[in-house]
Amino acid sequence: MIARTISWNHSVPKTDVLPLLSDGDFHSGQELADALGISCTAVSKQLKKLQKLGLQVEASESRGYRLATAIELLDREQILRQLAPDSRELLSHLWLENVVDSTNAEVLRQLQQGRSVGLVCVAEQQTAGRGRRGRNWVSPFASNLYLSLAWEFSGGAAALEGLSLAVGVAVAEGLERCGVPEISLKWPNDLMHERAKLGGILIEMVGDVAGTCQAVIGVGLNVRMPDSAAVAIDQAWTDLARITPELPHRNQLLVAVLDQLLPLLSNFETRGFASLREAWMARDANAGQAVVIRSGNNQWAGVARGVDEQGALLLETENGLQPVYGGEVSLRAST
Ligand code: BTN
Repeated sequence: MIARTISWNHSVPKTDVLPLLSDGDFHSGQELADALGISCTAVSKQLKKLQKLGLQVEASESRGYRLATAIELLDREQILRQLAPDSRELLSHLWLENVVDSTNAEVLRQLQQGRSVGLVCVAEQQTAGRGRRGRNWVSPFASNLYLSLAWEFSGGAAALEGLSLAVGVAVAEGLERCGVPEISLKWPNDLMHERAKLGGILIEMVGDVAGTCQAVIGVGLNVRMPDSAAVAIDQAWTDLARITPELPHRNQLLVAVLDQLLPLLSNFETRGFASLREAWMARDANAGQAVVIRSGNNQWAGVARGVDEQGALLLETENGLQPVYGGEVSLRAST
């Protein structure tokens, strides 16, 4: 095993009032200024910044300032401390950013600069979060989880067959270890709970399609989606707060997900999807259902019969069982 250095880059400045206000209690302007060693004017400027991030800051003449809702910030030391030793070994760099356009885009930029695989980018907010089929991924500040990992594969695009399905299994297992009720998977890569979307996976590839390539594996998970942000979501959705009796902290959820994903990625090229097929089928949200699959202007109707060892959807049609491969395919239960 190659020894890896873990490096950290966190864009929250030391003078940020956010960690002090995150408890949701009132703090006077003077208290904040003293704690941070800055002026009251600088505190006011920072409070305005928080409002720009979408956080609701309440002001009281007698008591000071507080966030309308307490928030739990991602904490790099805690994540590092809680990661399993094997995961830490597999992690090369961890970027914990306040705001990025997209964690996938950030990891792609890092790869262009020659960064190695095993790097992970996590953000509190994405301003241009990418979903599948060119959709926007709604990514409000400090509410959900947005993460991307980079991994290298020597077998080109073929080595990535079934990877997004395998990632779905790993994420679901990680969350369930934290007490989240059973999660189903909708082909090819949606995390679901009772017909509502809980999360999504977006894999982007660079490099040689027939040789050494790098995959950026992006995972978005709705943890506590604010209603104000949810109005922009154009499909049935849910979040962990709605379905989990005792919702763990986002740091704990993130660690649980990384502890599943990093070992999965390190073994995927040798093991492939085949060994996870049964686990995926056990979570298949559309098993045995009449479905319509759309790809561009084409569409096929049939009954979903699980997936094959490459991760292709098996569609039962009047012409027999047809494998449907990835790409711009959408799946909808027939009405
Ligand atoms: C989907 O449409 O279901 C896929 C959504 C993937 C969203 C995640 S959030 C972290 C990573 N960065 C992005 O810009 N997208 C992915």
